[in-house]
Amino acid sequence: MENTSKFSLIVLFAVFAVVCGLRNEDVSNVETLPTVQTMGQPWPMPNMYETSNVVLTVDENSFQFQTAGTFDCAILTDAYKRYAKLTFGGYISNRKRPTSLKFRPEIRSDQPVQKLEVALEMPCDGKIYPTLQSQENYDLIVGPGTARIQAPEVWGALKGLETFSQIVYRLETGEFVVNETLIRDTPRFPHRGLLLDTSRHYIAKPLIFKTLDAMAQNKLNVFHWHIVDDQSFPYVSKMFPDLSRKGAFNSETHVYTPADVADVIEYARVRGIRVMAEFDTPGHTQSWGKGNPNFLTECYSKGQPTGTFGPVNPIQDGTYDFLAKFFKEVSETFPDHYIHLGGDEVSFNCWRSNPNISDFMVKMNFSSDYSKLEEFYMQKVLDIVGSLKRGYLVWQEVVDNGVKVREDTVVHVWKGGWQAEMARVTGLGYHTLLSSCWYLNLISYGSDWVNYYKCDPYAFNGTAAQKALIKGGEAAMWGEYVDNTNVISRTWPRASAVAERLWSRQTVVSVEKATPRLAEHRCRLIRRGFPAEEINGPGFCEEEYNRF
Ligand SMILES: *[C@@H]1O[C@H](CO)[C@@H](O)[C@H](O)[C@H]1NC(C)=O
Ligand SMILES: *[C@@H]1O[C@H](CO)[C@@H](O)[C@H](O)[C@H]1NC(C)=O
Ligand SMILES: *[C@@H]1O[C@H](CO)[C@@H](O)[C@H](O)[C@H]1NC(C)=O
Ligand SMILES: *[C@@H]1O[C@H](CO)[C@@H](O)[C@H](O)[C@H]1NC(C)=O
Repeated sequence: MENTSKFSLIVLFAVFAVVCGLRNEDVSNVETLPTVQTMGQPWPMPNMYETSNVVLTVDENSFQFQTAGTFDCAILTDAYKRYAKLTFGGYISNRKRPTSLKFRPEIRSDQPVQKLEVALEMPCDGKIYPTLQSQENYDLIVGPGTARIQAPEVWGALKGLETFSQIVYRLETGEFVVNETLIRDTPRFPHRGLLLDTSRHYIAKPLIFKTLDAMAQNKLNVFHWHIVDDQSFPYVSKMFPDLSRKGAFNSETHVYTPADVADVIEYARVRGIRVMAEFDTPGHTQSWGKGNPNFLTECYSKGQPTGTFGPVNPIQDGTYDFLAKFFKEVSETFPDHYIHLGGDEVSFNCWRSNPNISDFMVKMNFSSDYSKLEEFYMQKVLDIVGSLKRGYLVWQEVVDNGVKVREDTVVHVWKGGWQAEMARVTGLGYHTLLSSCWYLNLISYGSDWVNYYKCDPYAFNGTAAQKALIKGGEAAMWGEYVDNTNVISRTWPRASAVAERLWSRQTVVSVEKATPRLAEHRCRLIRRGFPAEEINGPGFCEEEYNRF
C-alpha cells in the first residue's frame, strides 16, 4: 500500500478510538442480552477486535463490494459474489420476528454503510496458490458510509470478507446493521487444518466442497485429504489406473478422477485453502495391493504363505520403482509444497513371518529390530519425495522409531500423551502439528467442543524456541463411522472450536465468553445451509435448518 493510505489508516484508527469510545472484547455485553447468542460477533475471535455502540444500517439491495487500488483478480471478484450472499442471504422473510431478540439499539440511519472497499498491497492475478508462508492478515474498518479491508495478500482479504459477513447482523425489524468496528487480524498459527478420510467411506465431491466452504467460514486453511487407506483406494491414478479400478469400493461411483481432484484443488484455492494429500505407507495400504499385486508383504504361517498381506514389501526394488513413479504423479497433481507420507501404525507381525524378510534382516544386520526395517523403508520414501522438491509430513511414529528425517520435516502428533511428545519432537528441532486432542470422530454426549477449545498446543514443557516450531494443528474426522449422511453435521460446528484455538490469541480461553459467540456462529452456519449439529443443549436458531 502506498504511504498516504497507510497514514490515513492510522489516522482513522486514532479517530475511531477517540470518537467512539471503543471497547475491546474483554468487556462482554453478553449477560445483558435476553438470548444465549451474540449478534454480529465474529468467529474465530480476531487478534484485535474493537466495536462501538454506534449501529449503522446496511441496505442489502444497494450494498457494493469493490476493489480499491491497483490490484484486482478473479479470486476477489468471485469472493464478492459469494460474500454478498453470505452476508445477506438465508434469512427468513422480512416479517417481524415476535419471539426473541428484543434488541432495539439506537440506529444511525443517516449514514448507512454503502460499500466495502478492498485494498490489496500485492498483485493477486494468475494461478496463485496459498502456501504455508502466505500472509493472511488484514485490517477491517467499518465506519459511517464505508467499510474498508486492507490486506497485503488476497488470502488476508478473503479472511476480512468473511469477518465482515459475520459482523453484519439483522434486527427483528428485518433491517441489516453493523456496529462501527475496528479489526486488525492475523492468525496465531499458519497451518490450521481439517483432516478428512475418504477411504473408510467415500465422501461425495459436493460434500467435500461443502466442507471447504465451512473451512473458509472458520478460517481453516489446510484440507488434509486422507484420500486412501486399507479399506479403499478412490484416487484414480493416471499412471496406475488399476489401483482404483481394483481398490475402490466401486471403480465407477466411488472414485475421485483426475478432474474431480483438480476441481477440489481449485475450489479450495479460490477460498484460500491448501489441499495437502496424504498417501500413507507402509501400513494402511491393504487397498493398494489389489491393483498392484507385488506391492505388499505376503504373510506366512508355519513356513507357508497364508494368502494374506501385510505392510508394503520393503525389500524389493520394484516397490521403490513404483513409488518413485507414483509420487511423481502425486507431486504433479497436487500443487501444494507438502505431501503427507503417513508412516503410522505399522504392524511388524507380517514382516516377522516372512522368510525372505527374515533373510534380509540378517543381511542388513538389523537383528530382530523391525523398526530398523521401517526406517530403511521410510528413508527411501523420504528420499523419493525429497528428490521431487517437495516437503513432507509424517505421523509421529516415524520419529518415535528413530527414523532420521530431513530437518524441514513436519511431524504430526496424534497419539495420547501429546505433551511429552511435543516436548520431544520440538526438542529434536522438528516442525510440529498437533491433532491428538482434536479427533472429532471420537464422539460423546454433551458439549465436547469445550475439550477441543481448551486444548492449547503450547501446553507442554518446552522453551520458547520449541514452541516456535509448532506450525499449528488439525482437527481430524476419521471415516469409520462417517459418510455422506453425517460428515457435515459431525464435523461442524465442533471443528469451529479447533479453528478458534488455532486462529485466535493464546489468551482467548474463556469458554463462558465463547459459548454465546459459538451459538451465533452455529446458527450462522445453519442459515448458510450447513446441517451444523447442536452442541450447547436446548435452544433454537431464528433460522432453523430446513433443507429436508
Ligand atoms: C452494537 O451496539 C449496541 C448498542 O447500540 C450494543 O448493544 C451491542 O452490543 C453492539 N454490538 C457489538 C457487536 O459491539
Ligand atoms: C523369497 O526368496 C526365495 C528364495 O530366494 C525366492 O524364490 C522367492 O521368490 C522369494 N519370494 C518373494 C516373495 O520375494
Ligand atoms: C553387517 O555386519 C558385518 C559384520 O560386522 C559387516 O561385515 C557387514 O558389512 C554388515 N552389513 C551391513 C549391510 O551393514
Ligand atoms: C511441566 O513441568 C512441571 C514442573 O516440572 C510439572 O509440574 C508439570 O506437570 C509439567 N507439565 C506438563 C504438561 O508436562
